[in-house]
Amino acid sequence: MTPTPVRTLGIIGAGNVGAQIARRAVEVGLDVVLANSRGPESLEELIAELAPSAGAATVTDAARAGDVVVVAIPISGYRDLPAEAFAGKTVIDTGNYYPEYSGPVDELEQPGAPTTSELLQRHLPDASVVKAFNNLSAADVTTDGSPAGSPGRRSLVVAGDDADAKAVVADLVDRFGFDVVDAGALDEGWRYERDQPAYGVPRDRADMTAALAAAERRTERAR
Ligand SMILES: NC(=O)c1ccc[n+]([C@@H]2O[C@H](COP(=O)([O-])OP(=O)(O)OC[C@H]3O[C@@H](n4cnc5c(N)ncnc54)[C@H](OP(=O)(O)O)[C@@H]3O)[C@@H](O)[C@H]2O)c1
Repeated sequence: MTPTPVRTLGIIGAGNVGAQIARRAVEVGLDVVLANSRGPESLEELIAELAPSAGAATVTDAARAGDVVVVAIPISGYRDLPAEAFAGKTVIDTGNYYPEYSGPVDELEQPGAPTTSELLQRHLPDASVVKAFNNLSAADVTTDGSPAGSPGRRSLVVAGDDADAKAVVADLVDRFGFDVVDAGALDEGWRYERDQPAYGVPRDRADMTAALAAAERRTERAR
């Protein structure tokens, strides 16, 4: 079945990554509804920049508004997300775990800890979480995209347990101007987290595929 085309992104978190994803989304013809922790009125400047394709809302309303919902907040805040509002949604997790920035998250400190995306999926059991846009710098979202078929086109990685949701996100990644590499299920997401070869470095599809294969899982969290 062909998935319904994405027209509106709900974006939770309007900092470095959320704002950049919003800018690129508007450039490629999508509408965005943004939310942060301080409330819609604090987003006036960004909404004005992206007018008329952007609106600000509460977290609940932004999640409900999105055909796809991007979560771009420090992972330590995941428990604040209202799970009911995400039911049935494809959710993109941009998260990386930097305890020195977000504060420690107990579940991520245990031996055999889940990835941020698995943790988010547990919190949003009726949503389909796809890990994407975590392994590039926020600034690159608006600068590094190029048309399909461009030589050396930069690639981004997706992982998720729901094949349909992953296909929707892969299509979005391509619209943003990046090739897509599928890392597999959500529990493979560690392969492109911080300190892995696939993290942060611009790579084309072949190079990224090799970098994912070269990843080595650590038993201790990197600091
Ligand atoms: N920075 C990068 O280059 C980059 C690249 C890829 C992935 N990431 C990852 O993406 C995530 C976000 O990073 P960032 O650099 O964009 O962070 P950031 O600049 O600090 O922005 C965080 C945003 O999340 C909002 N927020 C925080 N807690 C919230 C909550 N409970 N409910 C709703 N909104 C909340 C903040 O709202 P207020 O401002 O109102 O508090 C802010 O808009 C992190 O996991 C990070 O590791 C970052």
